[in-house]
Amino acid sequence: MTVKKINMADTRLTEAEITAAVEVLRSGLLRQGPQVAAFEKAFAEFTGAKFAVASSSGTSALHLAYLTFLKPGDEVLVPAFTFFATASAVILAGGKPVFCDVDPETYTLDVADAARKITPRTRALGPVHLFGNAAAVKQVRDLAAKHNLKIVWDAAQAHGTRYGGGDIGGLGDFVCYSFYPTKNLFVGEGGMTLTDSAAAAELMKLYRSHGQGQKYKHTLVGYNYRMTDVEGAIGLAQMTRLPEMLAARRKNGAALTAALSRIDGLALQRVEENSDHSFHQYCFTVDPQRFGMDRDALRDRLQQAGVMSGVHYPLGLHEQPVFQDLYGEISLPVTEDLRSRIMAIPVHHGLSEEDVAAVIAAIKGAQG
Ligand SMILES: Cc1ncc(COP(=O)(O)O)c(C=O)c1O
Repeated sequence: MTVKKINMADTRLTEAEITAAVEVLRSGLLRQGPQVAAFEKAFAEFTGAKFAVASSSGTSALHLAYLTFLKPGDEVLVPAFTFFATASAVILAGGKPVFCDVDPETYTLDVADAARKITPRTRALGPVHLFGNAAAVKQVRDLAAKHNLKIVWDAAQAHGTRYGGGDIGGLGDFVCYSFYPTKNLFVGEGGMTLTDSAAAAELMKLYRSHGQGQKYKHTLVGYNYRMTDVEGAIGLAQMTRLPEMLAARRKNGAALTAALSRIDGLALQRVEENSDHSFHQYCFTVDPQRFGMDRDALRDRLQQAGVMSGVHYPLGLHEQPVFQDLYGEISLPVTEDLRSRIMAIPVHHGLSEEDVAAVIAAIKGAQG
């Protein structure tokens, strides 16, 4: 019997999205133009943000945000349990990431640890809405207000995440997205920075295109971080099914939570209070004693049943060779525990009810 494979992501475009891309290809107007501008407008409206600056990736979206205010040697407090670019963007802009631990249940920035690591050089906080779970927004904002820090929210995994009744894209100061193919909204490669500052948006547009306000007149040394109109057209077309894709992720997430919360030895990601998770990833930790096997053994069993899984992330950023070379070795116990016991299972918009049931059955079956 062949086992149906259930993948971690569904990166297929719809016919409407393909048509939108083909129209741009036919027009020959491939560079950044009206499609990107329309995508920026639509995404800003969806999130409630004032200004939107599209770019070539989530990494460039973060880099552009930091370029607007960071000075050489400025420190930015970031969680160690996240993707590399959360921290590398700080370095690209001339700053120094300072690694903080995360909350063991929500997996997002431990704000008390961040508070302990503030120094006279601290200039910003770089919290991450990890896996689509809102960070501790109120505590982050309170800490930033107390010490006059900027906030660069890493929302690369959090399209559609809500906090306090609004979309996290409207939080200001800077909210940075990725449109990589596995993300909740995807165009290929792309990113966007949302902000409530008109001046910052203008500056980011300059940095995005070689500091070129007018053609061949350069007022600063910038980058080529532009998004093409092919990607802009795909993003704009996909906006129309974003609510539907998010609803599917949430429905799948709720079904997984209902079933898995009853299994001894699995601890699910706690959703931050007053917020709505967008389930970019569905993650939990495995207690080997209580569950009867460790994370890696469970992953093997799932694979035999055709259910793919992932580990985000197998190392804390403070354990990455490059950061140990740069900043020395530190210990962050929660991150180190999470990275050795966490795993992700399929939750994406392309799953059928049967797929979700098969994922649950495979986890239950692994124990028996
Ligand atoms: C938390 C986080 N930050 C930043 C990025 C960088 O985005 P990109 O890959 O589009 O450069 C990613 C992408 O995986 C991410 O997950």
